[in-house]
Amino acid sequence: MALRSLTRHTLRNATLGFRGLQTFSLPDLPYDYGALEPAISGEIMQLHHQKHHQTYITNYNKALEQLDAAVSKGDASTVVKLQSAIKFNGEEGGGEPPKGSLGSAIDSNFGSLEALIQKINAEGAALQGSGWVWLAADKELKRLVIETTLNQDPLVTKGPSLVPLLGIDVWEHAYYLQYKNVRPDYLKNIWKVINWKYASEVYDKEFP
Ligand SMILES: [Fe+2]
Repeated sequence: MALRSLTRHTLRNATLGFRGLQTFSLPDLPYDYGALEPAISGEIMQLHHQKHHQTYITNYNKALEQLDAAVSKGDASTVVKLQSAIKFNGEEGGGEPPKGSLGSAIDSNFGSLEALIQKINAEGAALQGSGWVWLAADKELKRLVIETTLNQDPLVTKGPSLVPLLGIDVWEHAYYLQYKNVRPDYLKNIWKVINWKYASEVYDKEFP
């Protein structure tokens, strides 16, 4: 679902709407829809980006405008109702294994990259319904952790000290067209296109 890591949907603020309200537009992917084939088909990427994520952005903007109006009217119950719409709607390449300090942290926290992948895949496969599975850096514990979140919940709901390094979308829309109901096969292949370079950059920024 929403705009987050993996097929990493970076929100780029683009326009200032009426009354100075900041709204968002969906950025182009920095690569072709077919660039992740065969692990993720171009058809899925195009659908995921143009349909699912465009819809989130459109609805997110709509909710932001309604929230802005409700706040200026002091309409507290509408504000509360809109919060879930905003949370729901508000959320790229690689495959090269991680090196440097993130690579070492994976080895010391999980034993090996292979062991980490197995653990993430097991948790992603076991997650009931829709959600995300994450590799995160815990700033307090100073170690890597695996977390899952349900539906559109962001990682921060699992703790304020967690910084997402990578997130795998396990909503059906992320894999069904290509993998049908076999989520474990999707999880197995996603590692061929995981952007470890991005994860390493985030890790190095958190633990310089
Ligand atoms: Fe998604």
